[in-house]
Amino acid sequence: MLSVKFIDHELPNCFMNASGPKCTDLDQLMTLASNKYVSCVVSKSCTVEHRDGNPLPRYWEDDALTINSTGLANKGYKYYGEISEKVTSTNKPFIVSVAGLCQNDNLEMLNHLNNIPAVSAIELNLSCPNIAGKPQVGYDLDATRDLLRKVFDIKESVASLVEMIPIKEITKPLGLKLPPYFDPNQIIQTADLISEFPISYVTCINSLGNGLVIDPNSIGPVIKPKCGLGGIGGDVIKPFALSNVYQFRQALPDKIDVIGCGGISKGRDAFEHILVGATAVQLGSVFMKEGPSCFKRISEELTMELQKMGFKNLDECRGKFTPII
Ligand code: SIN
Repeated sequence: MLSVKFIDHELPNCFMNASGPKCTDLDQLMTLASNKYVSCVVSKSCTVEHRDGNPLPRYWEDDALTINSTGLANKGYKYYGEISEKVTSTNKPFIVSVAGLCQNDNLEMLNHLNNIPAVSAIELNLSCPNIAGKPQVGYDLDATRDLLRKVFDIKESVASLVEMIPIKEITKPLGLKLPPYFDPNQIIQTADLISEFPISYVTCINSLGNGLVIDPNSIGPVIKPKCGLGGIGGDVIKPFALSNVYQFRQALPDKIDVIGCGGISKGRDAFEHILVGATAVQLGSVFMKEGPSCFKRISEELTMELQKMGFKNLDECRGKFTPII
């Protein structure tokens, strides 16, 4: 009932983890890979070098929202290539998320990971809000265009970078993790640009960047980095996630999947993401708060929601959202 086709795989259900919480090291990734209700495993966004991330405290939650400024704490891209065979030994696709601190870092990581057989796909994160002094590339059309041109002309682009052999065209499915957009025109322009390239999927949305939560018991913020500014996730962001999934689904060609991410904490939320056109969904804040059991709970709730609404499977429900005329 929940099966989907995604990145050339037939997946038994539509749930994967969002690149973010609890997907940084092999233990965490194997916990995801061995969970029957996780159909595809996504790594923490990696950088060229290992990073400890931003100073603590850098995460806070309440019932409605989460705020994080993790700062891309990760083990460095080579680690994710090295462990890819173990992660896929459970026969689940493994997507490595990359978030280079500059364009050449992204090209270096893509070139390397593209050559590793057990890496199933690469998710290029254009939307991390938490690195001081590094704007979110996904908000800059020219920078996004320039990066994608170089990615898909990688032989030429990396010719001047050292230690980059063997170089071959990008052959793995490539996804883009996008920031939330708030104006329909931004979405049209971004979708038009993405459509020029052989992108497999977009993930909508990353956290809402640079939110500020003030500690209820003090006069300061709840997290330390960037004076308290961080990415907002959790239930409060669902309307923005649904809006972005819906608009990107309308604006992109069918061959580019839209993956829904944001504000999914129960089966009904996943149902709504599918209704507006998501192929599959990623769980972030709820996984951070509840742990691995959220995948089973939300799968079962989604199955019940589909039955209640009279749909036999996800294909029947996908895109059936109908505006009031
Ligand atoms: C972080 O590591 O700061 C979060 C990553 C992201 O939002 O893309």
